[in-house]
Amino acid sequence: MSVKTLAGALASLIALSMAGTVFAQTTAVQDPDARAKATVAQMSFEEKFMLLHGIMPLPVLPGTSDIPPGVDIAAGYVPGIERLGVPALRETDASLGVAYVMGLRKTADGKPDGATALPSGLALASTWNPELAYEGGAMIGAEARDKGFNVLLGGGLNLTRDPRNGRNFEYLGEDPLLSGTLAGEAVRGTQSQQVISTVKHYANNGQETGRQTANAIISEANARESELLAFQFAIERGNPGAVMCAYNPVNNVESCSSDELLNLTLKRDWHFKGWVMSDWGAVEGVKAAFGGLDQQSGEQLDTGLYFDKPLKELAQKDPKVLQRVNEMNQRILRSMYALGVVDNPVVKRPIDFAKNAQVAKAVAQEGIVLLKNDKGLLPLAKGAKSIAVIGGYADAGVISGGGSSQVAGPNGPGTTVRVGGSGAMGAFSNEYYHDSAPLAAIEAANKGGKRVSYDNGFFPQRAAEAAKAADVAIVFVTKWEIEGQDSPDLSLPRGQDMLIEAVASANPNTIVVLETGNPIAMPWLSKVGTLLQAWYAGAKGGEAIGDVLFGSINPSGRLPITYPAAIAQLPRQKIDAPPPAAASAEAMAAASVFGPPAQVFDVDYNIDGSDVGYRWYARNNFQPLFAFGYGLSYTTFNYSNLKVEGGETLKVSFDITNTGKITGKEVGQVYLTASPKRTQQRLLGFEKVELQPGETRHVSVVADKRLLANWDSKAHGWQLDAGIYHIAVGMSAMDLKLQESAKVSGGKLKP
Ligand code: BGC
Repeated sequence: MSVKTLAGALASLIALSMAGTVFAQTTAVQDPDARAKATVAQMSFEEKFMLLHGIMPLPVLPGTSDIPPGVDIAAGYVPGIERLGVPALRETDASLGVAYVMGLRKTADGKPDGATALPSGLALASTWNPELAYEGGAMIGAEARDKGFNVLLGGGLNLTRDPRNGRNFEYLGEDPLLSGTLAGEAVRGTQSQQVISTVKHYANNGQETGRQTANAIISEANARESELLAFQFAIERGNPGAVMCAYNPVNNVESCSSDELLNLTLKRDWHFKGWVMSDWGAVEGVKAAFGGLDQQSGEQLDTGLYFDKPLKELAQKDPKVLQRVNEMNQRILRSMYALGVVDNPVVKRPIDFAKNAQVAKAVAQEGIVLLKNDKGLLPLAKGAKSIAVIGGYADAGVISGGGSSQVAGPNGPGTTVRVGGSGAMGAFSNEYYHDSAPLAAIEAANKGGKRVSYDNGFFPQRAAEAAKAADVAIVFVTKWEIEGQDSPDLSLPRGQDMLIEAVASANPNTIVVLETGNPIAMPWLSKVGTLLQAWYAGAKGGEAIGDVLFGSINPSGRLPITYPAAIAQLPRQKIDAPPPAAASAEAMAAASVFGPPAQVFDVDYNIDGSDVGYRWYARNNFQPLFAFGYGLSYTTFNYSNLKVEGGETLKVSFDITNTGKITGKEVGQVYLTASPKRTQQRLLGFEKVELQPGETRHVSVVADKRLLANWDSKAHGWQLDAGIYHIAVGMSAMDLKLQESAKVSGGKLKP
């Protein structure tokens, strides 16, 4: 075993012991296909429909009168079949921690059931660190299991096609390789706890506006080379037990009924052996079963319970339908056997939240991105400067994102700011601040030294005065995002742009800390010399921000998403929306929990096509505000010695040297810049390395051939053109340090 793999194995062991239980592998793996087959053979006709649908056990939901005793409030519940030793599926959201469900689920002693909140998906993606993704997934998996759940609806990885999408904070950015790798690792982590994980929302589910009727128009090649490739990477790496299909239609077919997406791509081409569950309220009829959907989730949210009586009636008449029903059961049971939920039934256990919070902290520390440090104001020397902390509820905690993924800490949300609104989502509309105040962390760091003051930032003039009276001003700004709605633009809400302007004008030593779920516009950027993107920083976000401000952590986050210089650079100027819903009494009477029915409308993803994010900027020669892959460190790095070996694929190797005075982590990024028939930028590989001052590390990356190839719709496979491929290595998609080229032999690749 090489030193590196030994170190990797040790790190994984440490990660496991940090994040959950190490399960004996033998219990889970004994031929799950054969076991599932034997169980299906013993099922009565009636039993064959029991696993195919489930409720959302949420009493506030209209039509939810009969939550069975012993079923906890959560996202989903599918009763088991006791006679056959099949346990119930108990499902909870999601990628950022065990969801809070508005505090409705209670602990044994009657308190709202909180959990450990990881930072947002974009924060995790900013780490570019697969080991942290694994650890985070394992931590959440362990908490889910200890709370009595055996399915985690995590693994969100829709690619960012629009920085206004209200759910981007749950996902992993704009690149298929980065998103797919990290999602795959998070799934692996969760499933190491013998909790089934999902990937979602499959596929091309790129906006929240009209999310049930936004008809994604995308060619086969464009889809295969972008979001589908992200899912493919995640599924290959993580082997999730389930995939969740999305709300929206794709090319005029509902995702959850799509033969193309489910039967042909996922199950045939990718050999996916698990089951497809619907998103909650995404099933349009019994025909979904023939498109490839195996299980109807959150059945009260659909217009009918299709996977019971209607499917039974068809199965009674037609043996082919019964065969399909058998297959649906086979898939669900296979994942249950393969991942240990049958052999190791979940048992509620106390959770060590203090220990788990360290995982959240590690992600936050590596996920914070230093965007600007013009005068080297950071890191601050402890106690040396008087500091005016301003705004962002920095005295209370760090903001988090809303919707089904919302997590609140073990003691509930530290601070709640009511946002409000009507309709089903109105109840979710609170800004929750995790109980980890940046102010406290700053005060602790400056203890015994100069004064730290706090101003809430409500009045820019007063904040400016506080800033003027201090050596340094740190302005915290927040932008809340929530599932179900997009941002109308990239601005900061509640006049915070004015606040930054006023403070920066009053004190040249102004540091801005962004707690946002997405990239934002920065009209004040030229006036601010120091800027940190802290995202939604999770359970220990305040401490992590303090660590970076005072240099006990050297920032190593790199952007997983491009910051546009202006909306004009985006592929779609406006977020497409359905025509306003009819307001008549009839329309209101037909409303579901999601509101009155909306009309289907098109969203053209062929505009950017497979050139999502930085690839679109490269194609158009746009200069973004901040590029994909960008992020500063308190040290400096040099790149040298690039070698590219050709052949069947490309092997790229190079050296990274820490040329500064302190230890730091750098993310070496390898990009394709041109292939024989196309000029196109694509991330081919990356590696994060920690380097002591003066240390050099040799990094090598082997490109996945699909990243070099183009999808050929006629041949239904990847076409790898023979010829010269141009490669660049650098510190971001725009900051390419070294270039080289090599010849690839070419050929056809399987789908
Ligand atoms: C969301 C899913 C979530 C499900 C269950 C849906 O509205 O789109 O991501 O897992 O609800 O809460």
